[in-house]
Amino acid sequence: MAEDGERPGAEHWVPEGAALDELRGAAEECRGCELWRDATQVVFSRGAGDARMMLVGEQPGDREDLEGEPFVGPAGHVLDEALAAAGVDGEQVYRTNAVKHFRFERRGKRRIHEKPAVGHVTACRPWLEAEIALVRPSVIVALGATAARSVLGTAVKIGEVRGMVLESADPSATPTVVTSHPSSILRLRDHGDRQRATDGLVADLRRAAELIG
Ligand code: URA
Ligand code: SF4
Repeated sequence: MAEDGERPGAEHWVPEGAALDELRGAAEECRGCELWRDATQVVFSRGAGDARMMLVGEQPGDREDLEGEPFVGPAGHVLDEALAAAGVDGEQVYRTNAVKHFRFERRGKRRIHEKPAVGHVTACRPWLEAEIALVRPSVIVALGATAARSVLGTAVKIGEVRGMVLESADPSATPTVVTSHPSSILRLRDHGDRQRATDGLVADLRRAAELIG
């Protein structure tokens, strides 16, 4: 947590006027919340600094924590396939997360994903705001409720807002499409449910791509 008298959160570690690479480097030092302690490393972002589409996830998973890159595990695979199906070039998007360190619970040798708390999302938000200000995407896609909370600055129900075009809460007021998280698709056991959820994700990504024009 922050030092005495300081507000907890990443503000203190986010350098002003920094370029994306400097931001990435600075995030390694972040102690804006306690999640850095148990994680292997910070997982900042992946993709072009001038990407028109920014994809925001929840937090790195087990694989991401080990590799130091966002969306390289199973959820990332679902996302890559959905992007391809939506006709979006995966090389042209910027991938990041609302929370930059992996939160998990240890069960024996396994590390089980644990949802970040609202306090973690709030603490980590200065990084995301700095990324949005630097990349200046034409559209943001918030993947799941945690990402939506961070980008929109308020709690939303995915079922109620998915596919709608909202606005990010930071000064850029960037058009934001909220959709379901690829991990939620992976958790569906029924083939039909999975197909419908995948189709929904693809449709939302297509919608977002249309906003780029
Ligand atoms: N899930 C996320 O939200 N982000 C990742 O980077 C990987 C899985
Ligand atoms: Fe900093 Fe975010 Fe990591 Fe917390 S999760 S230590 S705020 S980078």
